[in-house]
Formats: sequence, structure tokens, C-alpha cells
Amino acid sequence: MATPAMPHWPIHLRAGGTSLLIDRADETGVPIIVYWGEDLGDPGRENLAAQARAAIPQPVTGSTDAAVRLTAMPMEADGWPGSPGLAGHRDGRDWSPRLILTEATATAGTARFTLGDEAAGLAVRLEYGLDQAGLLHARASVTNTGERPYLLDRLAVTLPLDPAASEILTTTGRHLRERQPQREPLTVGAHVRESRRGRPGFDATGLYCAGRPGFGFRDGRVWAIHLSWSGNGTIGAERLPGGLRALHAAELLSPGEITLGAGQEYSTPTVLAAWGDGLDAVAARFHRSLRARAGHPSSQRPVTLNTWEAVYFAQDLDALTQLADRAAAIGVERFVLDDGWFLGRRDDTSSLGDWVVDPQLWPDGLTPLIDHVKGLGLQFGLWVEPEMISPRSELARAHPEWILHTGTGLPPSARNQQVLDLSNPAAFTAIHGALDALLRRYPIDYLKWDHNRDLLQPGGADGRAATHDVVTALYRLLDRLRADHRGLEIESCASGGGRIDAGILERTDRVWTSDCIDPIERATIQRYTGLLVPGELMGAHIGADVAHSTGRATSLTMRAVIALLGHLGVEWDIRTLTPSEERELAGWIRLHKELRPLIRTGTTVNADLDDPALFLRGVVSPDRSEAAYSYAVLASTQAYPPESIRLPGLDDDAVYELEWLTGPDDGPGLGPLPWLDGDHRILGRQLRLGGVRPPVLNPGNAALIRVTAA
Ligand code: DGJ
Repeated sequence: MATPAMPHWPIHLRAGGTSLLIDRADETGVPIIVYWGEDLGDPGRENLAAQARAAIPQPVTGSTDAAVRLTAMPMEADGWPGSPGLAGHRDGRDWSPRLILTEATATAGTARFTLGDEAAGLAVRLEYGLDQAGLLHARASVTNTGERPYLLDRLAVTLPLDPAASEILTTTGRHLRERQPQREPLTVGAHVRESRRGRPGFDATGLYCAGRPGFGFRDGRVWAIHLSWSGNGTIGAERLPGGLRALHAAELLSPGEITLGAGQEYSTPTVLAAWGDGLDAVAARFHRSLRARAGHPSSQRPVTLNTWEAVYFAQDLDALTQLADRAAAIGVERFVLDDGWFLGRRDDTSSLGDWVVDPQLWPDGLTPLIDHVKGLGLQFGLWVEPEMISPRSELARAHPEWILHTGTGLPPSARNQQVLDLSNPAAFTAIHGALDALLRRYPIDYLKWDHNRDLLQPGGADGRAATHDVVTALYRLLDRLRADHRGLEIESCASGGGRIDAGILERTDRVWTSDCIDPIERATIQRYTGLLVPGELMGAHIGADVAHSTGRATSLTMRAVIALLGHLGVEWDIRTLTPSEERELAGWIRLHKELRPLIRTGTTVNADLDDPALFLRGVVSPDRSEAAYSYAVLASTQAYPPESIRLPGLDDDAVYELEWLTGPDDGPGLGPLPWLDGDHRILGRQLRLGGVRPPVLNPGNAALIRVTAA
């Protein structure tokens, strides 16, 4: 079949150091991405055509007569034997469409294609855009052009994976230990990470990375994708005989979750994808792109005090005003009242859904506390968990039908709570109304928006799977509150890092990285959360000397150094501090304030150190005139004294001065360390290649290395 007038093929998208070269299949015209990666420059039309031709494989025995190619919407009708781009049916029919290109448009950085199978009653749209960071934004949509309903099972964005990519890195985890890295070889087969929790989950992989074996933070070419979605998802790599490698990502749909009536359309969440030499280069594209989003916080991130690990549910005006006084004295700028302020909430067994101030705890409402906090010059933040409902609540008594369930009784209970059906317009209106009333009544600058359980059996009013609808309702709710309450900031929390994705980040200003604030655990959690999230959006708190979540004691230096390069907070009953602890904490907060312009705009760098006990992660200013590195000894080191550490990311030709900032806790080193005495000036290249010998520190201790161009 002839294809209509089109842009010149192959289509070459270029931006931010990335190229995407798109050819089309001979018979159907379906787009084929023949190359995605490092910028090809401007080779000219003929050379681009030559590259597209060079990518055509030879037909082989035991396969289809025409060589199988990976298209942008791979389907069985093209001979594709792997995971289909589109799956669904109409009463068991129309399940294997043969898509033909009907329209294509392209600009320098975007391309859009429409494909269709008239007989099957389906039209598909594919959209690609490269932003200035070189990050690819891709989306697929399907429309039911037939008359009878079409049940959609899967619609995926599929990208080709470079033949060099044969090692996969993803993250997994659990409550209090999110984003732990795991590696595996990309052998033949599908390697898929799924989320069926109604949110990405603690074990979700932030980025799905595949690259040259052994790729690290600083080198090794790597490609990564991310599903910009806060619900169920599937993201994976696939390798098939025949030299076919792909990355794909899709919303994971439950049976019957999406039924398209005549003319109805479904779109995938946006899939984000980047390449880089080393993970830091990949992360830099995500960070740059997130920083360019509308509504990215433009002010320096206020140092926060969160009341949770200070008082838990013991909310008392006197205690909280004292806490606010101490917080203001040490330089805190935002006071966040955590869980426990609303109707009857004394522990986690009741009251979610009853978003009115508890009259017994707060006879005069929150005004006395807020006035006090604001009088100290601090912003005021309030904890909420709007998507949840406690069976023991007035809301559940009035509207038991608003609890998500499938009709077989309540889903398994988790943290004594159930999930509200926010896709029900009446429930949405009630929750929006309650939050809106709070925001109108009180001068609230910030909401800590929590989400403390997985969605299990999330059936809506008619019992159908409703995850997709509650996630889109959540997005609508956040968008509406932000539009109506200009300047309101929102933190996304899900028992810590259970819901960290670019979809929620589009609408929030900070993520609560983990409920674990033990710095030994946090070092890894923050490092891998940082593949997606830049430092200024990553909540990082200094907690008590003995971490509540692990029982491990660490020095204040260690806790501060690990928290310092994020969005800093304090989560500790600071009424109990000794004067010297208070002075030391205030000093770290002062230092953070000096560093935060750097944190907000800088490039995150990580050192690939051989000894797993050593940790080095930093941020370098865009002009590379300054940098700060958190250096920590997480366990006993192999070498004693430790080997040199190299400082990545600096300007090779600039001369730098180094400052080694640590606390009063000494390491066991005996004699002097020459470079630490007096002025030490050294080239960026020398710091990158030779590095410096760090002083000996005890396990569980740390230092901040500040580097400034001389
Ligand atoms: C889980 C959060 O991650 C904590 O920080 C705290 O807000 C509690 N929920 C409150 O219930």
C-alpha cells in the first residue's frame, strides 16, 4: 500500500547531544528507530539514508522471508516474535492488527506518526520529542475506530537498544531500604520489572538501565528508560535471536481495566529515555529536564523541621512551639506538622479521610501553632494522606462504598487502612473540598502528601480495576490544588520512597526519599534515587544519634554530611540537644545554606570507588568553579590508610583549593597528612586522575570536601 506524502526519510531528530534516526518499514511504512544515542552531527540526507540502509538485516533461514525488524510498534503482523507493542481484542477478534502508516510529521526535535488498521478498527499514534537535555519523551496512543468496545491489554513504547548494551542495572528495595542496585546480564529473553502495587513501590526501579558490561557512574556507555507514571507499570529489556534488542515500558493494565468505546483513545504515560557515558551523564539529562519543567521551585529550598520522629503522634501545642523555637534558633525555615492533627487521630488505626482539625487536641484550631511558627519567620507545612480512608473514620461510616474493593469483601488491610476511590466524582469532590477548606482557612505553605499502602484489589464503583483512574484522579487533584493555591508546595511521600517517579514529580516539589534516615543506609538510597531526582528535590533529614529505623548510632557529622547535599531537614527532638550539639547542628545548617545555590543548579557526580566501604558523591557547579563532595566511610575499609579518592566532574584545566570539613569526631590516623596542612592547590585533571589521600576516619564517619577554583 502506498504511503501518503511525508517528511524526508529517514527522519533525524537531534537535540542536547542525542540523535534519534527513524526509518520506515518497506511494506507498511511503520516507523523503525534505527539509531538512538550519541549525536550523529549533521551527516546530510544521503549519509543518513546510508545509515538507515546499513541497518537493514539479511533474511535468514528458519525465519520469515523478509528479515524481522524491530519497529516502533512491534506486532506479530510484522513477524515480531517478542512482546507486542499493542495487545487487546474485541470479543476475541481484532487481536492482531496489521498497522499501516497513514501520516507522519516531523520538526528538528519532534516526530509524530499515525498508523491504522481499518479492518481491525484501530488507529495508533506515536510521538517522540527530544528536549534540550537530550532526553527523549515518547508516548503511544490507541483509538478505537471501530464500533464495538475494544479491550486493551497493553500499549507500550518500544525503543531499540544498542548492541553494546548487554548488562542491566535496576533497583529494588523494601520499606526503609529503597533503591538498592542489582545487575544482571542481558541474556536472550525478556527481563522485566513490574509494579503491581498501584504505585511504583519501594522495590520499583527508578531508571531501567542497560549498557556496556561494567558501566559505572563515570564511564561505560549506558541507555536508560523511565515510565513517568505513579501507578502500575512494566519496564524491561528484551533480547531475541536475530540481533534484536529492545527496551520497553508500559502501564501495566489489569484485566478489563481499559475498555475503549467507539472513538475513545488511551495514551501511555510518557516514557523518558536517555543515553550517556556513565550513569552520571544519564542522570544529568533527567535532572536538567526536570529542572526545566514548569513550576520547578525557583527559590532556595528552605531547611525543614519535620515533627514525625521528634514527637510522633504526641501532638501538644507547648511541645511543638518549643520545637519550633529551637528550630528557628538553629536556622530552620519551614516547620512541618506531621501525622496526628486531625479528627480522633491518636495512632495509625483511625481517622484517615476526616480532614478536619481535631477539636480536643487543638481547641483553638491550628491557629495558635501556625501564628507561633510564622511569628518566628518560618513557613508552615501540614501532613495529609488524601488518597486513603480508615475503616474507623466518619468518612468510612458515611461512605463505605468509597473504599476501593472488588465486591469480595475488603482488600487486605495495610497499616490499618484502605484506599479511597478518588475516581468516584463524589469522593473526589469531598476530599478536594476538605483540603481546599484547610488551605483557605490556614496560611499553609506546604503539604506533605503521604500514601502509606499498596493498592490491592482496587475495584471502583462497578468492581472494575480502577488503578488507572485513581492515578489520573490524583493528578487532577494535585493540579487543581496547585492551580488554586499559588505558591503552595507539595512533598510526595509514600512511607518514604514508595512513589518516586516523573509523573508525581511533575506535580510536586520534593520527594520523601525514605523513612530511613540512618546515614549509612541513606548513602545508597540517595545515590540511586538520584539517578532520577536532583538533590534539591530529594528530602534528606538529619535524625537522632541513634536512628529510629535501624537502632544504629552514628556521629552528627556523618548524619549531616550525608543529608547536606539534598533538600535538608531535621527530624529529631531538638529540644533534647546539648548546647554543643545545637551549635554543631546550626553550623551544618549554615554550611548547607551556603551550598544550596550550588545544589539547586549543579551536576551530581559519583565516584566509582573500588572499596564498597567508601562513598563519595558530590555536586559540581555548571561552570565547574565550585563543588562539594560528601565523603563517607560506611564500614571498615579494606586499605588502612585508605587509598586515594578521585574527585570527579571538575574542570581539568582549572586550579582548585580544597577544604576538608568534618566534625569533632576524630579518626584513628596517627601522623600528619601533608596536603591537609596549609594551602593546597591542584588542577582538576590531577584530582580526576590522581586524587587525594583522605584522612583516616572511623567507620560511620564522614567529611565534606569543598572545592573552589583558586
Ligand atoms: C510515613 C511517612 O513516610 C513518615 O515520614 C510519616 O509521615 C508517617 N507516614 C506518618 O504516618
